[in-house]
Amino acid sequence: MKNPVRIMAVHSIHIDEKLAIENACAVLAQGGLIALPTETVYGLAADATMGEAVAKIFETKGRPSFNPLICHVSSLDMAREHVEFDALALTLAKAFWPGPLTLVLPVQPDSTVHSLTRAGLDTLAVRMPGGFARELIARYGRPLAAPSANLSGGISATHAAHVAADLGERVDLLLDGGPASIGLESTIVKTGSKGIELLRPGGLAVDEIERVTGVPVRRRTNASAAIEAPGMMTSHYAPQSKLIINATTATDKDCVITFAGHQIRGAVNARLLLDLSPSGDLREAAANLFNHLKMADASGAERICVAPVPQNGLGEAINDRLARAAAPRKEHEETARDD
Ligand code: TXA
Ligand code: MG
Repeated sequence: MKNPVRIMAVHSIHIDEKLAIENACAVLAQGGLIALPTETVYGLAADATMGEAVAKIFETKGRPSFNPLICHVSSLDMAREHVEFDALALTLAKAFWPGPLTLVLPVQPDSTVHSLTRAGLDTLAVRMPGGFARELIARYGRPLAAPSANLSGGISATHAAHVAADLGERVDLLLDGGPASIGLESTIVKTGSKGIELLRPGGLAVDEIERVTGVPVRRRTNASAAIEAPGMMTSHYAPQSKLIINATTATDKDCVITFAGHQIRGAVNARLLLDLSPSGDLREAAANLFNHLKMADASGAERICVAPVPQNGLGEAINDRLARAAAPRKEHEETARDD
């Protein structure tokens, strides 16, 4: 029998934070797995330079295939040991790190990050998270490979309780940092001679990137993104209940998720009515999205009917996740879906 899950709070008082970091470093150095809070979502992390530890991430998430993982760093210098920055990438890192932005860049030939982390690709995705996660990585001194801390194909974890429910005793240490402040995974871009390409919309709005660089961001079609980033499969974040996007009507068997108080027909009779942001704030909506989807799913509703969410700013990433959650699961995607 496995030991019960070890959970440490990292946000109550400062001394807890230091103790949590020391414990986490000990687990990581032994090739173990930790679940750690970041501003986007909780991550399931291992030392990115240890192949067996990275392999454990895939095993623990129940991932049938090796999709590349994001490598988390605590400084620009640490990132530079592993990837080559072009001018645009440097501008972006300086403007948005630490934060919800991941850069896909050519891997340095002498990088010590294990090739399994990048699934053998010649590029590596790097991100500098802020706060506790950054302190931990700085103390540990090596980059951490970390996908979102949920079972493959499920909804990403924005609360420690989600991680405990999903992965429980499969992690050696779960660090509870409270609810994730952004609540959506990072925005992933690839820079290079072709400018800036969006591989995944996320917690940093695309117009922010365009404002800082003055360069238009190219959106990719799902098909081309799937080839580039094997993890970007259509079906993802799948709740148990059927999810309807841009819903206009609901019944008493349904759960309704609305935005800014938007009324959809029949919502008053719904078994559960949730609002992503009654005041119409897209940041608040992003932070609530995954938790609301989990609550809706737990309500046992036949369908989850989601009212339209505006497409501007963070709305792009919110609508992307909703579309993936609503997508029918195809047989062939079951073996290669995103995590
Ligand atoms: O906010 C986040 O990004 C969270 C936190 C924990 O940092 N992480 C996260 O990781 O969402 P994950 O593994 O769930 O998603 C990583 C995405 C996958 O779609 C993967 O295919 C893509 O990044 N990716 C990773 N390395 C890549 C590469 N070299 N080229 C293209 N895409 C890559
Ligand atoms: Mg994920």
